[in-house]
Parts: sequence; structure tokens; C-alpha cells
Amino acid sequence: MTKWQKSDWRNKPRIQMPEYLDMEKLNAVEARLSSYPPLVFAGESRRLREQLAAASRGEAFLLQGGDCAESFDEFSADGIRDTFKVMLQMAMVLTYGAKVPVIKVGRMAGQFAKPRSAPTEVKDGVELPSYRGDIINELDFTPESRFPDPEKMLRAYTQAAASLNLVRAFSTGGYADVHQVHAWTLGFTEGSGAEKYRDLADRISDTLDFMRAAGVNQDTAHTLQSVDFYTSHEALLLEYEEALTRVDSTSGNWIAGSGHMIWIGDRTRQPDGAHVEFCSGVQNPIGLKCGPTTTADDLKVLMNKLNPKNEEGRLTLIARFGAGSVGDHLPRLIKAVKEEGANVVWSCDAMHGNTIKSASGYKTRPFDSVLREVQEFFAIHNAESTIPGGVHFEMTGKDVTECTGGVRAVSDEDLASRYHTACDPRLNASQSLELAFLVAEELSARRTEIKVAANS
Ligand code: PEP
Ligand code: CO
Repeated sequence: MTKWQKSDWRNKPRIQMPEYLDMEKLNAVEARLSSYPPLVFAGESRRLREQLAAASRGEAFLLQGGDCAESFDEFSADGIRDTFKVMLQMAMVLTYGAKVPVIKVGRMAGQFAKPRSAPTEVKDGVELPSYRGDIINELDFTPESRFPDPEKMLRAYTQAAASLNLVRAFSTGGYADVHQVHAWTLGFTEGSGAEKYRDLADRISDTLDFMRAAGVNQDTAHTLQSVDFYTSHEALLLEYEEALTRVDSTSGNWIAGSGHMIWIGDRTRQPDGAHVEFCSGVQNPIGLKCGPTTTADDLKVLMNKLNPKNEEGRLTLIARFGAGSVGDHLPRLIKAVKEEGANVVWSCDAMHGNTIKSASGYKTRPFDSVLREVQEFFAIHNAESTIPGGVHFEMTGKDVTECTGGVRAVSDEDLASRYHTACDPRLNASQSLELAFLVAEELSARRTEIKVAANS
């Protein structure tokens, strides 16, 4: 077998990628990106992989979340801070429920390219290429805007670098201190409708008080004041991915420098396609979306391609079937994993199978469906004696009205008021935190069941 090269994907069938017309401009952009520093470093991805290995054994839990698509217009320090803040709150509540460390991975600093259900869009008899994310083209329905422009990759790189810079500062600069994170959460549970979450929040307060009294603060001040926060995105635009791929000088292996973890979308997981080829050769933790059309045979081939040495923490299977359908699909994929003896992290994307069109015409996701999919995911893993290792959400720290439901109920009619997403509907700050409370309850119920089973 010849050695993997970062450009090998070019010889494979590719879908969901733009047709750039100006090859000279494209080549110039690729050359420039290739000369820029990578955004993340191999040691960080290795560390994430070790943490994911723990999640595959039930000794950690993955929380992956952020925008469906990052946008150039919505880019702001406040936006990043708010999403970061809610993820820390969710992680703390989940840590309390799961009693294991929560691995925080943002859909952030690179989540720009989007697969689409149709290559073109027709409006009033005019047909134009579909919008594919800000790294490729623009949303406005004009020929100039929809034309793919390779220079947008440079702007995406710059925005990703600035986002990461901010996240790194927030992670260590005192902003992430557990006491502060918990104080924000208490603010939520004191709001109307959230009374039912106060009990759990009070128990977290008691734990923190106890730790303070026991002097844990002084001893582990650094751990309590800083966090590991990783970035991830769908590795869809392979020209961008290839240009940021480098050899890790420590191991001599290839590593995608565009983000700590990258994933393969449900539409681009063809075993012989370009996206699988690219991801097979880089050492980063890889996510693989598994949808209703994923067959057991495909999954086996994909696991062998993406993780031939069956390393723990390398591969995360992100199930996204939709509430009410998890039982139709997850068991056959769990069976395939068992038959192969494969090491995987099982994560639940409770968003992409639950998109509906509301009566008011907006694309939305009911909060209750999102919760129900997570519950079904846990129930099946319980029944199969396998480990639910994480959750995956599209969410934002802002007070948007894109998904319906939650204690501060967003109704169909409310959707119009703050519907800001560049792509799919996201949970807002309150819905995200509420979901974390509900998932934490599931996790602690699961722990109790496991304990009872062990003692009986
Ligand atoms: C996404 O995660 O934004 C996405 C498009 O998901 P999927 O590939 O699972 O449809
Ligand atoms: Co999406």
C-alpha cells in the first residue's frame, strides 16, 4: 500500500463541494493557506483523543455543541463568549449528573461549510447555486453572491483564528471559574418556570460549598479556574482542510490543523468517497454521522477505514435518527459495532433528525423531540449494555427564537421575532441549559440503575 497523502481525496468521487471556476485564484488561496500556521496543534488533538477514549469506556462524557453554521456577519466577541458560557454551564450540570469529566467540544472556529439537499435553488423561475456556507458563497439570492469564491477561505481562516484566540483566553483567564459558572446557572433556576431545576442546582451549590470548606480550592485552584475547550467542524470543504493539514513533528503523522476534531456528515460518508478518504489519513479524532440510511455493512467498512487499528478515542459515531426512530436504527448499528469488537464513542445528535416546518413557515425543532431523542438513545444503550458517551447539539448562547418549547416557551408565532440562524434552528441559552438539566437527570438515573444491578 502506498503511503497516504493529503491530496489523495482528489482522486475520489466528491459531492457537496463547490465547483470553483477560477482555478488560478483557487490555487493561490490554497498556496497561501498552506503557508499559514495551523489553527490547532497535534498535542491538543492527542489529548482530546485520550479524553474521548475515556468517554468510550464511560469514564468521561462528550458535550459537543455550537452553531449549525458560523457566519461572517454574526461574528462577534459577545457571540463567542455567550456560547462558550452556556456550554460551560451545561458541562457543569452534566458533570454533576454523570459524575465523570465532561469533554467540551465547540462546533466553532471552522464550522462554515454546509451540505445542502439540492445543488441549486429556484425562486420565481430563477435558478441559482444553493448557499453552501460563508466559506463558499453568500446567502443573498443573486448570481454574484451565489458564485463560489475561494478567497472566502482566507476570511474563514482569519475568523477561526480570532475565535480560537478568544476561546483560549476565556478558558484560562478566570472567566471559566466553576463558582462563576454556577452563579450564572443559579440565575437561570431562579427565573420563572425553572423551579423544577432548583433542587439539582442547590445540590451543586452544596458540593461547591463543601469543597471550599475542605480547602479544595487552594489545592486545585488552577483546575477549577480553567477548562479544556476544543473546536470541531464538518470536514466538508476539502481544499481548505488539505491546505491546513501538516505533519506532526513529534509523531511524523498527518494532522488536520483546522480544528481539534473533524467529522464526516451524513451526506458525505460514502466509503469510497473523497471525505472518508481525507479523514482516514489524519490523526485527529473523527466523528461520523450515522443516519437512518446508514447500513450495518457500510458502518463496518467505515470503521475499518477510519480506525484500522481500532484505537480508543479515534472514532465517535454520532447517531442522528430523530425522536421516535432511534429504536428502528440504533440497535442494528450497535450490533455491527459489537460484531467488529470496535472501539467507538457513541454520541447522540438530537437535532438533525428533528427538523420540521412550523405552521408559520419556519424550519424549527421542538424542544420535546430533542429531549425525547436523547432519552431513546440512553434507553437503547441501557438495554444493549453499551455506553452512551456524549451528546451533540446545535445551540447558541443568545436568546434566539428558532426551536419551539422549553420553560421559557417559544411558540410557533414567536419564531419570527429572533430567528437569526444562517442554517438550521438552534437551541437558545435557556433551552440549552434546560436540556442539560434533563440529560443530567437521565445520567444520574442510569448511574443508579447500574449500581443497583451491580449489587443485586
Ligand atoms: C450538521 O451537523 O450540521 C449536519 C449537516 O448534520 P448531518 O450531516 O448529520 O445532516
Ligand atoms: Co445543522
